[in-house]
Amino acid sequence: MDNTKHRLVVVVGSVREGRFGPVAGSWVAEQARQHGGFDVEVVDLADFDIPTELPAVSPKAAGHDYPRPERLAPLTAALDGADAFILVTPEYNHSYPASLKAAIDWHYTQWTAKPVAFVSYGGAAGGRHAVLHLENVLTELHAVTIRDGLAFPLYYANWKDGRPLDPEAPGYAKTLLEQLSWWAGALRSARETAPYPG
Ligand SMILES: Cc1cc2nc3c(=O)[nH]c(=O)nc-3n(C[C@H](O)[C@H](O)[C@H](O)COP(=O)(O)O)c2cc1C
Repeated sequence: MDNTKHRLVVVVGSVREGRFGPVAGSWVAEQARQHGGFDVEVVDLADFDIPTELPAVSPKAAGHDYPRPERLAPLTAALDGADAFILVTPEYNHSYPASLKAAIDWHYTQWTAKPVAFVSYGGAAGGRHAVLHLENVLTELHAVTIRDGLAFPLYYANWKDGRPLDPEAPGYAKTLLEQLSWWAGALRSARETAPYPG
Protein backbone atom coordinates (compact mmCIF):
# COMPACT_ATOMS: atom_id res chain seq x y z
CA MET A 1 0.00 0.00 0.00
CA ASP A 2 1.21 3.53 -0.84
CA ASN A 3 1.08 5.58 2.39
CA THR A 4 1.04 8.87 0.53
CA LYS A 5 -2.37 7.97 -0.89
CA HIS A 6 -5.71 8.03 0.88
CA ARG A 7 -7.41 4.67 1.26
CA LEU A 8 -10.74 5.02 -0.54
CA VAL A 9 -13.52 2.45 -0.24
CA VAL A 10 -16.21 2.61 -2.95
CA VAL A 11 -19.31 0.87 -1.61
CA VAL A 12 -21.75 -0.62 -4.12
CA GLY A 13 -24.97 -0.26 -2.14
CA SER A 14 -27.55 -2.28 -4.08
CA VAL A 15 -27.76 -6.08 -4.06
CA ARG A 16 -30.75 -6.58 -6.39
CA GLU A 17 -30.65 -9.19 -9.14
CA GLY A 18 -29.75 -7.46 -12.43
CA ARG A 19 -28.69 -4.31 -10.60
CA PHE A 20 -26.89 -1.34 -12.15
CA GLY A 21 -24.83 -0.64 -9.01
CA PRO A 22 -21.63 -2.47 -10.06
CA VAL A 23 -21.54 -0.55 -13.37
CA ALA A 24 -21.68 2.80 -11.58
CA GLY A 25 -19.25 1.57 -8.91
CA SER A 26 -16.66 0.44 -11.50
CA TRP A 27 -16.79 3.74 -13.35
CA VAL A 28 -16.43 5.74 -10.12
CA ALA A 29 -13.51 3.56 -9.01
CA GLU A 30 -11.84 4.12 -12.39
CA GLN A 31 -12.21 7.91 -11.99
CA ALA A 32 -10.68 7.68 -8.50
CA ARG A 33 -7.71 5.62 -9.76
CA GLN A 34 -7.13 8.13 -12.55
CA HIS A 35 -7.21 10.95 -9.99
CA GLY A 36 -4.05 9.45 -8.50
CA GLY A 37 -4.58 10.46 -4.87
CA PHE A 38 -6.26 7.27 -3.69
CA ASP A 39 -5.69 3.57 -3.13
CA VAL A 40 -9.08 2.34 -4.30
CA GLU A 41 -11.01 -0.68 -3.09
CA VAL A 42 -14.51 -1.56 -4.33
CA VAL A 43 -16.71 -3.22 -1.71
CA ASP A 44 -19.83 -4.87 -3.13
CA LEU A 45 -22.50 -5.43 -0.48
CA ALA A 46 -23.88 -8.34 -2.50
CA ASP A 47 -20.80 -10.32 -1.39
CA PHE A 48 -21.77 -10.33 2.29
CA ASP A 49 -25.40 -11.42 2.84
CA ILE A 50 -25.75 -8.76 5.56
CA PRO A 51 -28.34 -9.68 8.22
CA THR A 52 -30.93 -7.19 9.41
CA GLU A 53 -31.16 -8.67 12.95
CA LEU A 54 -28.67 -6.77 15.11
CA PRO A 55 -27.14 -7.85 18.46
CA ALA A 56 -28.64 -6.54 21.71
CA VAL A 57 -25.67 -4.28 22.44
CA SER A 58 -25.27 -1.09 20.40
CA PRO A 59 -22.28 -0.77 18.04
CA LYS A 60 -21.47 2.59 19.60
CA ALA A 61 -21.22 1.10 23.12
CA ALA A 62 -19.42 -2.09 22.02
CA GLY A 63 -16.92 -0.37 19.71
CA HIS A 64 -14.40 -2.87 18.29
CA ASP A 65 -15.96 -5.70 20.36
CA TYR A 66 -19.28 -5.52 18.53
CA PRO A 67 -20.27 -9.14 17.82
CA ARG A 68 -20.58 -9.41 14.05
CA PRO A 69 -21.06 -12.59 12.01
CA GLU A 70 -17.73 -13.96 10.75
CA ARG A 71 -18.76 -13.40 7.15
CA LEU A 72 -18.84 -9.62 7.71
CA ALA A 73 -15.17 -9.54 8.80
CA PRO A 74 -13.78 -8.49 5.36
CA LEU A 75 -16.41 -5.75 5.11
CA THR A 76 -15.59 -4.45 8.60
CA ALA A 77 -11.85 -4.57 7.86
CA ALA A 78 -12.33 -2.58 4.66
CA LEU A 79 -14.45 0.08 6.41
CA ASP A 80 -12.02 0.18 9.35
CA GLY A 81 -9.02 0.81 7.10
CA ALA A 82 -10.67 3.48 4.96
CA ASP A 83 -9.72 7.16 5.04
CA ALA A 84 -12.64 8.05 2.78
CA PHE A 85 -15.78 6.55 1.30
CA ILE A 86 -17.88 6.89 -1.81
CA LEU A 87 -21.32 5.38 -1.37
CA VAL A 88 -22.86 4.37 -4.69
CA THR A 89 -26.62 4.25 -4.24
CA PRO A 90 -29.79 3.90 -6.25
CA GLU A 91 -33.09 5.36 -5.12
CA TYR A 92 -35.69 2.91 -3.79
CA ASN A 93 -39.04 4.51 -2.87
CA HIS A 94 -37.43 7.92 -2.36
CA SER A 95 -34.68 6.55 -0.14
CA TYR A 96 -31.66 4.25 -0.34
CA PRO A 97 -31.69 0.42 -0.30
CA ALA A 98 -32.09 -1.60 2.89
CA SER A 99 -28.79 -3.39 2.06
CA LEU A 100 -26.91 -0.12 2.48
CA LYS A 101 -28.72 0.73 5.73
CA ALA A 102 -27.83 -2.70 7.13
CA ALA A 103 -24.15 -2.25 6.21
CA ILE A 104 -24.13 1.19 7.87
CA ASP A 105 -25.91 0.01 11.04
CA TRP A 106 -23.56 -2.94 11.63
CA HIS A 107 -20.75 -0.39 12.06
CA TYR A 108 -20.12 2.79 13.99
CA THR A 109 -16.50 3.73 14.71
CA GLN A 110 -15.65 2.77 11.12
CA TRP A 111 -17.50 5.88 9.88
CA THR A 112 -16.48 8.32 12.60
CA ALA A 113 -14.47 11.40 11.60
CA LYS A 114 -14.15 10.23 7.99
CA PRO A 115 -15.41 11.87 4.80
CA VAL A 116 -18.20 10.31 2.72
CA ALA A 117 -19.16 11.29 -0.84
CA PHE A 118 -22.18 10.06 -2.77
CA VAL A 119 -22.81 8.85 -6.30
CA SER A 120 -26.47 8.21 -7.01
CA TYR A 121 -28.68 7.13 -9.86
CA GLY A 122 -32.32 6.45 -10.51
CA GLY A 123 -35.29 8.00 -12.32
CA ALA A 124 -35.86 11.72 -12.84
CA ALA A 125 -34.36 12.74 -9.47
CA GLY A 126 -31.11 10.86 -10.08
CA GLY A 127 -31.20 9.31 -6.62
CA ARG A 128 -31.07 12.65 -4.80
CA HIS A 129 -33.78 11.60 -2.34
CA ALA A 130 -31.56 8.65 -1.35
CA VAL A 131 -28.59 10.96 -0.83
CA LEU A 132 -30.56 13.40 1.33
CA HIS A 133 -31.43 10.52 3.65
CA LEU A 134 -27.86 9.21 3.65
CA GLU A 135 -26.46 12.64 4.58
CA ASN A 136 -28.74 12.67 7.60
CA VAL A 137 -27.74 9.15 8.68
CA LEU A 138 -24.00 9.66 8.20
CA THR A 139 -24.09 12.82 10.30
CA GLU A 140 -25.42 10.73 13.20
CA LEU A 141 -22.30 8.55 12.84
CA HIS A 142 -19.97 11.59 13.05
CA ALA A 143 -18.96 11.24 9.42
CA VAL A 144 -18.38 14.31 7.24
CA THR A 145 -20.46 14.39 4.07
CA ILE A 146 -19.11 15.97 0.91
CA ARG A 147 -21.22 18.66 -0.73
CA ASP A 148 -20.52 17.85 -4.38
CA GLY A 149 -22.12 14.53 -5.30
CA LEU A 150 -22.70 12.92 -8.67
CA ALA A 151 -26.31 12.20 -9.55
CA PHE A 152 -27.32 10.31 -12.68
CA PRO A 153 -31.00 10.78 -13.62
CA LEU A 154 -32.56 8.27 -16.04
CA TYR A 155 -29.28 6.35 -16.02
CA TYR A 156 -30.77 3.66 -18.33
CA ALA A 157 -30.95 6.26 -21.13
CA ASN A 158 -27.83 8.20 -20.18
CA TRP A 159 -25.15 5.50 -19.85
CA LYS A 160 -23.60 3.37 -22.58
CA ASP A 161 -20.90 0.70 -22.40
CA GLY A 162 -20.31 1.23 -18.70
CA ARG A 163 -19.93 5.02 -18.75
CA PRO A 164 -22.12 8.11 -18.64
CA LEU A 165 -22.84 9.82 -21.96
CA ASP A 166 -22.55 13.28 -20.37
CA PRO A 167 -19.07 14.54 -21.37
CA GLU A 168 -19.00 16.69 -18.22
CA ALA A 169 -19.29 13.66 -15.90
CA PRO A 170 -15.52 13.01 -15.48
CA GLY A 171 -15.05 16.70 -14.60
CA TYR A 172 -17.76 16.53 -11.94
CA ALA A 173 -16.15 13.35 -10.61
CA LYS A 174 -12.80 15.16 -10.39
CA THR A 175 -14.35 17.96 -8.33
CA LEU A 176 -15.90 15.42 -5.95
CA LEU A 177 -12.59 13.55 -5.66
CA GLU A 178 -10.64 16.75 -4.98
CA GLN A 179 -12.98 17.64 -2.13
CA LEU A 180 -12.91 14.08 -0.81
CA SER A 181 -9.10 14.03 -0.95
CA TRP A 182 -8.84 17.31 0.97
CA TRP A 183 -11.14 16.04 3.71
CA ALA A 184 -9.48 12.62 3.81
CA GLY A 185 -6.09 14.26 4.47
CA ALA A 186 -7.43 16.76 6.98
CA LEU A 187 -9.42 14.19 8.96
CA ARG A 188 -6.71 11.51 8.86
CA SER A 189 -4.21 13.93 10.32
CA ALA A 190 -6.77 15.11 12.90
CA ARG A 191 -7.52 11.49 13.94
CA GLU A 192 -3.80 10.82 14.27
CA THR A 193 -3.28 13.97 16.36
CA ALA A 194 -6.06 13.48 18.89
CA PRO A 195 -8.90 11.03 19.48
CA TYR A 196 -12.22 12.27 18.13
CA PRO A 197 -14.40 13.42 21.06
CA GLY A 198 -17.52 11.51 20.16
C1 LIG B 1 -38.08 -1.21 -4.85
C2 LIG B 1 -37.70 -0.14 -5.85
C3 LIG B 1 -38.14 1.15 -5.66
C4 LIG B 1 -37.75 2.17 -6.55
N1 LIG B 1 -38.11 3.45 -6.29
C5 LIG B 1 -37.58 4.46 -7.03
C6 LIG B 1 -37.77 5.81 -6.66
O1 LIG B 1 -38.42 6.13 -5.69
N2 LIG B 1 -37.20 6.77 -7.42
C7 LIG B 1 -36.44 6.46 -8.53
O2 LIG B 1 -35.92 7.38 -9.17
N3 LIG B 1 -36.25 5.19 -8.91
C8 LIG B 1 -36.80 4.18 -8.19
N4 LIG B 1 -36.59 2.88 -8.53
C9 LIG B 1 -35.85 2.60 -9.77
C10 LIG B 1 -34.38 2.37 -9.43
O3 LIG B 1 -33.72 3.59 -9.22
C11 LIG B 1 -33.72 1.59 -10.55
O4 LIG B 1 -34.42 0.36 -10.70
C12 LIG B 1 -32.27 1.30 -10.27
O5 LIG B 1 -31.77 0.52 -11.32
C13 LIG B 1 -32.08 0.52 -8.99
O6 LIG B 1 -30.72 0.36 -8.72
P1 LIG B 1 -30.02 -1.08 -8.84
O7 LIG B 1 -30.22 -1.50 -10.31
O8 LIG B 1 -28.58 -0.87 -8.52
O9 LIG B 1 -30.74 -1.99 -7.92
C14 LIG B 1 -36.98 1.85 -7.68
C15 LIG B 1 -36.57 0.51 -7.88
C16 LIG B 1 -36.91 -0.46 -6.98
C17 LIG B 1 -36.41 -1.87 -7.20
